[in-house]
Amino acid sequence: MAKIVNSWNDWDPLKRVIVGRCDNSMIPPEEPATSEKVPVDSEMRGMWGLRPLATVERGNECLENLVKILEDRGVVVDRPTPLQWNQAIGTPDFRNDSMMTCMPPRDILLTVGNEIMASANSFRCRYFEYLAYWPLMKQYFDEDPDFLWTQAPRPRLTDASYKHNYYDEKITLEERLVRTANKDFVTTEVEPMWDAADVMRMGKDLFIQHGLTTNRTAMDWFQRYYPEYRVHAVNFPGDPYPIHIDATFVPLRPGLIINNPHRKLPEEQRAIFEANDWQIVEAAQPAHDEPPALCYSSVWLSMNCLVLDPKTVIVEASEVHQQEQMDKLGMNVIPCDLRDAYPFGGGLHCSTADVYREGDCLDYFP
Ligand code: ARG
Repeated sequence: MAKIVNSWNDWDPLKRVIVGRCDNSMIPPEEPATSEKVPVDSEMRGMWGLRPLATVERGNECLENLVKILEDRGVVVDRPTPLQWNQAIGTPDFRNDSMMTCMPPRDILLTVGNEIMASANSFRCRYFEYLAYWPLMKQYFDEDPDFLWTQAPRPRLTDASYKHNYYDEKITLEERLVRTANKDFVTTEVEPMWDAADVMRMGKDLFIQHGLTTNRTAMDWFQRYYPEYRVHAVNFPGDPYPIHIDATFVPLRPGLIINNPHRKLPEEQRAIFEANDWQIVEAAQPAHDEPPALCYSSVWLSMNCLVLDPKTVIVEASEVHQQEQMDKLGMNVIPCDLRDAYPFGGGLHCSTADVYREGDCLDYFP
């Protein structure tokens, strides 16, 4: 039996990874958590149903581009098994008219060392998304005797998990920023809720974004579950829709992070990085003024790169400014055409989930 699962951070040499699939993807119906996350001026407001087939095919083509780059470099690529996401779902606590997709895997699976944990997402439409990854988890379990197959405590997602009418339709961008600055989000604290993409792993330290998808109670839960790690809550006051840390604060190698210039890490939270001689560099401007059609994310998916090792990074092919900056920062840049996969939930980092990176759990902030 072999060691299949091992990953402690986002930069050690990548050997095995999961890449999502767009098949059967839905724009989910509005629900308490999601309506707050769709920008008011988005063309997606009030719309739901199957995504147009041509966009699904094009999204899958983009993911195939990524698979090819990875496989050409000897990285083993695993793929999820999509469900019919248009099915209605129910639990004793809620009903929802559909699920969403199995993109992006980064939101659902958190790898810490030899453990892969399915997350405790706050969107009802994502409640059963983990099932797409269960065949892979079973395979890792059969083949790797050390693999820990884990599911975080499942949130109930009753109405008590959300603040209702929290934002009305007319809320301005400024008002949203005030809410973010006050750490006042749509989820309540009745149970731990978190998306895996809010967790940035750095060996002994886990930096977790407090925002629309991850609450305070989750931080407390993490610290008790991983007593030997240091859990840091981070927040980025400049982000009106704080969801997922990987278009905001992205490590490239030990000692170097790029930070979204509109979403700066507050001074007091920078201290730990500065005290350990880490450099926080402002990310380059995105090459686009608008995200592609039917996309939830912002143009800052430009910085959502996939680091293959501390000297090599995959950057989206049209993001020329980000590529140039990476090059100046001493990285070898591999461009990958992926923009038409953005509408399915994210960029290069989002579209993947770590299975194996060489290396051990180090203390970068002693
Ligand atoms: N909130 C980010 C933005 O729009 C998108 C993050 C996507 N990341 C992910 N893992 N799905 O800038």
